[in-house]
Amino acid sequence: MKVIIINGPNLNFLGIREKGVYGNTTYEEMCSYLYKEAKKIQVHVDIVQSNIEGEIINFIQGAYEKYDGIIINAGAYTHYSIAIFDAIKSISINTIEVHLSNIQAREEFRHKSVIAPACYGQICGFGKYGYVMAINALVQQ
Ligand code: DQA
Repeated sequence: MKVIIINGPNLNFLGIREKGVYGNTTYEEMCSYLYKEAKKIQVHVDIVQSNIEGEIINFIQGAYEKYDGIIINAGAYTHYSIAIFDAIKSISINTIEVHLSNIQAREEFRHKSVIAPACYGQICGFGKYGYVMAINALVQQ
């Protein structure tokens, strides 16, 4: 099984940005953790990140016929990118939305995810473990 994890804007600044919300773990440390956890459950994982909306769309389209599952943390684009919603709808790949923080417990503008209706499910509030939950959920499909 091949899964691509797509991370959006500002996630490369984990360990630097708002530590009270996102913790001290750096982006690189999180990626190492995810590669290790995926190996344990015998899932091949690739991880990509971009701060640019169009590049995220290219990653989604690039997954077509190459990956069995997508895990996406679209960062702030989650809350307004219809283009990312359309990209997820365009490909027939199980896609799970992940957020490190509990977006429901934060500012009101984070409560709505415009990409959620295009996704198989949403996991939020469990930090980096949320991605591991998502990998396991894709394995069950
Ligand atoms: C986030 C939540 C978003 O609201 C925010 O814009 C992010 C990170 C999360 O992982 O908790 O950049 O997606």
